[in-house]
Amino acid sequence: LEKSLILLKPDAVQRRLCGEIITRLENKGLKLIAMKMLQVTKELAAQHYEEHVEKPFYPMLEEFITSGPVVAIVVEGPEAVSVVRGMMGKTNGRESAPGTIRGDFGLSRQVNLIHGSDGPEAALREIGIYFQAEEVLSYKSSLDEWVCASDEL
Ligand code: GTP
Ligand code: MG
Repeated sequence: LEKSLILLKPDAVQRRLCGEIITRLENKGLKLIAMKMLQVTKELAAQHYEEHVEKPFYPMLEEFITSGPVVAIVVEGPEAVSVVRGMMGKTNGRESAPGTIRGDFGLSRQVNLIHGSDGPEAALREIGIYFQAEEVLSYKSSLDEWVCASDEL
């Protein structure tokens, strides 16, 4: 099973869309294994978005992501990284397909509700930024065999 780090960005919190988005993740069958609300600092933003720090849009991104509380979540499931990326839609809400989170709730390329890790290695790095090892839980659920049933021979 794979883990993915999700952030519900400041606009999701301000717009009271956290429940809606978490419901989608849960309904999909992804298991919540860590969750907290926090204020992203400039230092944390630079660590998280290290690949973007030198980009021209970084000052805007930093301003946005530090503008209010976020919710950090770790989900677990088969191919969780790509499953979550699919549910998020494209970066730009105007180009995201209806049915995706960004496609259903936004019109901005920057203020786009949700972050999801873009690869399994990135996920492990990002989980380490937001959570202590003991904050990421491991537990069985009777739904596991239904929602994550193996389809391998
Ligand atoms: P994340 O899951 O947040 O990493 O989004 P992403 O992987 O879909 O996009 P990417 O990693 O390329 O960019 C990170 C974030 O920076 C985006 O989600 C936006 O919030 C913001 N961003 C990306 N491109 C632009 C841009 O061209 N202009 C501005 N202002 N913000 C951008
Ligand atoms: Mg990204």
